[in-house]
Amino acid sequence: MQWETRFELGVEEIDRQHQELFARVGRLEASLREGDHQQVVEMLDFLGDYVVEHFGCEERKMKETGYPFFAIHKGVHDRFVELFLQIKAEYQQTGETAWLAIKVHKVMVAWLHTHILGMDQQFGRYLSAPAATHRPVVRA
Ligand SMILES: [Fe+2]
Repeated sequence: MQWETRFELGVEEIDRQHQELFARVGRLEASLREGDHQQVVEMLDFLGDYVVEHFGCEERKMKETGYPFFAIHKGVHDRFVELFLQIKAEYQQTGETAWLAIKVHKVMVAWLHTHILGMDQQFGRYLSAPAATHRPVVRA
C-alpha cells in the first residue's frame, strides 16, 4: 500500500494520519505474507484504535466548520469501523492468515483508497474554500 501525492488533501494533520494508516496497513500486509502472527495481532490492535482516533479527528473538523455532509461521512466511517471489528474478530477466532490477507486487501485497502480519493477529498476542498462559505454549526 503505497502513499502517493494524489491522496493528499492539503490538510496537514489529516494527511499525516492517512500516511500513518497506509504505513500500518502495509505492515499488516507484510506480516500476513510472513506469517508473523504476533505482528498481525499488534497491527490489528493498533489499527482498531487508530482508525477511531483518526475518524474522530476528521469528524471534529467537520463539526467545527459546519460541514453539510457530516452525517453521511460519519455514517460511512461508522460502517467501516464495524467492518474492521468483524474482520478482526473473525481473525481472532480462526487465525486464518490467507483469508485475512484477502480481506485486508480487498476490503480495507480498496476502501481507504476510494474513501480518501472521494469523500475525504471532497471535505478537503470544503476546508480550503473561503471560510465565509462555511455554514455555521447548528446546535439543537
Ligand atoms: Fe473520512
